[in-house]
Order: sequence, then structure tokens, then C-alpha cells
Amino acid sequence: MAGFFISIEGGEGAGKTTQGNLLRERLAAAGYRVEFVHEPGGTDLGEDIRRWVKSSVKPLTPEAELFLFAAARAELVRRVIKPALDKGGIVLADRYADSTTAYQGYGRRLPMRAVESANNLATGGLWPDLTLLLDADPEAVLARARVQPSLGHGAGHRESTARNRGGEHDQQRFEQAGLAFHRRVREGFHAIARQQSERWAIVDAGESVEAVADELWRRVMERLQARATPLDASARLPGI
Ligand code: TYD
Repeated sequence: MAGFFISIEGGEGAGKTTQGNLLRERLAAAGYRVEFVHEPGGTDLGEDIRRWVKSSVKPLTPEAELFLFAAARAELVRRVIKPALDKGGIVLADRYADSTTAYQGYGRRLPMRAVESANNLATGGLWPDLTLLLDADPEAVLARARVQPSLGHGAGHRESTARNRGGEHDQQRFEQAGLAFHRRVREGFHAIARQQSERWAIVDAGESVEAVADELWRRVMERLQARATPLDASARLPGI
């Protein structure tokens, strides 16, 4: 695979989308060709699943959640991620299969072997070269969300993309799941990061937007520059 695959993970309200956008802009400005994808989403099926997941008032069963996220990912991997990597570009994913392990495995407590099987089938064995964990204390996220009228502000700032508006509903879902659930999700991310430490970089999401963005940029550059073969020249835009 000629390209470079980066995923951003973390709980709700950690600022993944804001930071993903900043990172994408910075990589593009440095001349890299970047495909930015959001899970679930990025394909026709994925967008329908996203709408369903984001708008369902009644919680889905954990098993149905597992299959829905896996179905969205199976499409995204084969139709978008893999082709972009094959062309030598950078793929930046706002959530990937580690979210399923953290949310459906640790959070919803589905058997880990079932979660692993679903992840392996959906990803076809394709895992990121680097996973950035935006680490935030769910209690702090919840407290902040109660002061500011919607969730998804990531470390005290606004998530600005249209797809992330509707924050009140996000907040409702977040509160409904309960603090214990979000703590298990956070612990899940940490557990995976401990098991696969070479792939993961943990960044404190509680710092300012600029400080977090700088730290993410530093981690990405470190990994990109450490590659045995530099990213394909074709990953750079013509003339840069
Ligand atoms: P997302 O839109 O990224 O939420 P946010 O931007 O608020 O962090 O993700 C939608 C929800 O789907 C979020 O609650 C996390 C959940 N999710 C899973 O439970 N499992 C998964 O595999 C994925 C990709 C998301």
C-alpha cells in the first residue's frame, strides 16, 4: 500500500472533527493529497446509516449497532479508503474500527471475539498506520456541554461543520448512554492503545485548539518522516 492511513479516535465532544479539519488543511497546505472520511458515512449506505444512528431516539440493540457500523465500514474501506491509499494519498478517518471495539465492545459489552470478527471482516485487515486518540474526561465533556447549549464543542470550542450541528440531539444521546458507559469507552480506547502502542498516539484534548492541533501535527510528521520509503511523490499535488 503506497499511501498513509491516519485515524482519529476519542469520545464525543473531544473535538475530533475540528481537529480533523485542521489537520487536513495543514496536510493539504504541505502539498499532500488527503481524503478525509467520517464514520459512519462517506458512501451512500454510510450516510443513511449515519442519519439513522444519529437520529434514532430509542437506543438500538448493541448487536444491531455492531452490524450497522460494520456495514458502513465495509463499503467505505472498499469504495473510498483503499482506492485512495492505492493511489498513494493520505487517508484521514474521523473514527474507524477502534470505535467499534471501544463503543460496542467495552461500552456495550458485546463479546470481544464477535467485535473482532466483525472488525476483521469489515476492514478486510486494513488498519491505520497511525491512530490519534483525542483523550477527554467524559465528566468534563458533559459538564461543559451543560453550560454550552450543545455537545461536540471539543475542549471548549465550536465544532463548525454542518454535519455536526444538531448538537442538542447528540447531547441527549450522550446523556442517555450514561457516564459509566462513556468511562468504559474511554478505558477501552486506552486498553487498545496499550496493546498496540506503536500504532497509537494519545493527545490530551483538554488543551487549547491550537495546542492540540500542533501536537497532532507533530505526531503525524514524526510518523510520516520515519517511513522507510517516503510517501509516494504522487501523493503530492502536481507542482508542489
Ligand atoms: P460521531 O458522529 O463521530 O460522533 P461525535 O462526532 O459526536 O463524536 O459518531 C456517531 C456515534 O456513533 C458516536 O456516538 C459514536 C458512535 N459509534 C459507535 O458506537 N461505533 C462505531 O463503530 C462508530 C464508528 C461510531
